[in-house]
Amino acid sequence: MTSTPEPHASLNASPNAVSNSAETAAARPEPASEPRPTSPATAAAPVTDAESLNEQRGRDRFDEMNFHTRKWVRPEDLNANGTLFGGSLLRWIDDEAVVYAMIQLGNQRIVTKYLSEINFRSSATQGDIIEIGLQAINFGRTSLTMRCEVRNIITSEVILSIDQIVFVGLDEDGNPQPHGFTEITYERDRFPEELRHRRG
Ligand SMILES: CC(C)(COP(=O)(O)OP(=O)(O)OC[C@H]1O[C@@H](n2cnc3c(N)ncnc32)[C@H](O)[C@@H]1OP(=O)(O)O)[C@@H](O)C(=O)NCCC(=O)NCCS
Repeated sequence: MTSTPEPHASLNASPNAVSNSAETAAARPEPASEPRPTSPATAAAPVTDAESLNEQRGRDRFDEMNFHTRKWVRPEDLNANGTLFGGSLLRWIDDEAVVYAMIQLGNQRIVTKYLSEINFRSSATQGDIIEIGLQAINFGRTSLTMRCEVRNIITSEVILSIDQIVFVGLDEDGNPQPHGFTEITYERDRFPEELRHRRG
């Protein structure tokens, strides 16, 4: 992890996130395409014709954070204070974010390059259900930057926020590899070939 982030321009594309936790996958059927944003935070203004509806959907995708991965806080996830252990939470976020980066960059060789300040804003306790939200904010040449927010699924209280998580896609020699993408995919069209074959 490094200390000084490089500046990244804001992405003029639609952010999205995917769910990849075992819990979530088991709880619902595999979607035909990537899930659309569901947050009510930026409710769409009423539109009638199809063209306006598509434009509205595009704006919604850009504006919203997507919450799909849910975790139930278990006894083994608690710290000595009896609240959610930060290490468990960060592992869940990393698991979610790296798979999202794989899908977006079409590369299974993805490493975490940079994490900005991690703000633990409130705690969770045993039995709470939390949800992890991700939002892609920049496609670089070899990198993908996203932000993250974790909240309580019942109260929507924010538990953690990270402004920047940067992943870099590598080539077979471990060097940063240009990915050529500038926009988010909502399909599984970039899924790394190596992983596709594992699925038979
Ligand atoms: C990832 C790694 C190969 C990159 O090497 P590097 O010499 O920094 O490569 P580059 O300078 O070409 O940077 C690669 C990308 O990272 C970005 N980057 C580099 N330093 C950064 C920083 N401090 N903050 C944000 N982004 C940064 C660059 O902007 C570049 O993105 P772009 O191509 O989209 O513009 C190397 O740093 C590494 O192996 N790090 C260890 C990764 C790791 O083990 N992570 C933990 C476990 S997954």
